[in-house]
Amino acid sequence: MGIGTSLPATRVSNFEIESFLDTSDEWIQSRTGIRERRVAEPELTLLQLAARAARAALQAADLDPSAIDAVICSSSSPDATFPSLACRLQAELGCPHGPAFDVQAACSGAIYGMALAQSMIQSGLSRTVLVVAAEIFSRVLDWSDRSTAVLFGDGAGALVVGSSNQEGAQIVALDLGADGGGAWALDTIRYHPIKQEPARLRPEYATSDRAMDRVVHMDGREVFRFSTKILEQIVLRLAGAARIEVDQIALIVPHQANSRILGTAAGRLGVPFDRFTCNVDRLGNTSSASIPLALAEAEGQGRCHTGDLVCLVAFGAGLTWGGVLLRWQPTGVVVDDPGDLEKSNQSLSDTEGRSTPRREEISG
Ligand code: UT7
Repeated sequence: MGIGTSLPATRVSNFEIESFLDTSDEWIQSRTGIRERRVAEPELTLLQLAARAARAALQAADLDPSAIDAVICSSSSPDATFPSLACRLQAELGCPHGPAFDVQAACSGAIYGMALAQSMIQSGLSRTVLVVAAEIFSRVLDWSDRSTAVLFGDGAGALVVGSSNQEGAQIVALDLGADGGGAWALDTIRYHPIKQEPARLRPEYATSDRAMDRVVHMDGREVFRFSTKILEQIVLRLAGAARIEVDQIALIVPHQANSRILGTAAGRLGVPFDRFTCNVDRLGNTSSASIPLALAEAEGQGRCHTGDLVCLVAFGAGLTWGGVLLRWQPTGVVVDDPGDLEKSNQSLSDTEGRSTPRREEISG
């Protein structure tokens, strides 16, 4: 396995959003844990963002695009209904003409993609699958709706999934599910520009061309209830499938929707919060990209050790959910973040007692 991520350089703080929306940094931080998010520059396309993450993952896995015989993409903010992002990415990267398709499982998309990749490999259909989750949610938000506009951010993450005799983290257990009866709680509705604030108050990202003529709409409380419950259930089910106790899981990498959701789920599971990864403060909710982004960050910070059980847990619109339990092995990570001011030098220098994956940064 190899992991690659890419982020737009532009950071948008809660204070900037305060300048055009009836909200406050205090409200956003106390209800969600979010301080800032990345927002794609108007000229950046979803394909470009996805391709940057994909190239980073290939570099991390030390593979040429010719080694990829299937491409699976996930995006809830595609810039076209068809052709799929996966087909366009396959051509962009120059991968062979194996299967290429998108999965639509909202924030659970990367986990659905990993599960499909694993099945395709086990069935003998594919050998090495590229799974890419890429989101430019800023283009499917109604920037006059404070109940959703403050929550999301843009970014992409990619994973190279290979057979069990290839290097990197190994999949131990999988769990996928959906309840379409809850579809109403998080969906898209027709965009009504009349609701927009006067144009002079809006930043550039709120006026750029929309990917779709529909915008995100959510019953936050209902999704909150669902998220805390399902997060707990997935961890328990994966532990059951692997015949382990929950406290044997070294690290839980959940979908980064809201730090309060993670805190509530940690309490329900009786797991200390420091065993959860949380980067929602800096990236907001990047939908299906959030788990690869959080996993890459955890590995870069030296939080994944050889032999550790690492649990990825996703939940989102559909309603969908999914989990992957990994047995950690040294796994290459490459981060393409032209907006990273610190370049994570401190965490890179602290490598004592951990596996020694290759971790690289691609500058601007
Ligand atoms: O990725 C998919 C998964 N997504 C999620 O998991 C999101 C789950 N939901 C949540 O994270 C939370 O429900 C939210 C953060 C979305 C909302 O937090 P909440 O504590 O559930 O707030 P609420 O919706 O109950 O609203 C409380 C108040 C309302 O005002 P009144 O009716 O009490 O006067 C809202 O109008 O907060 C108001 N409000 C805001 N105020 C300032 C809602 N959004 C904002 C805002 N700024 N941005």
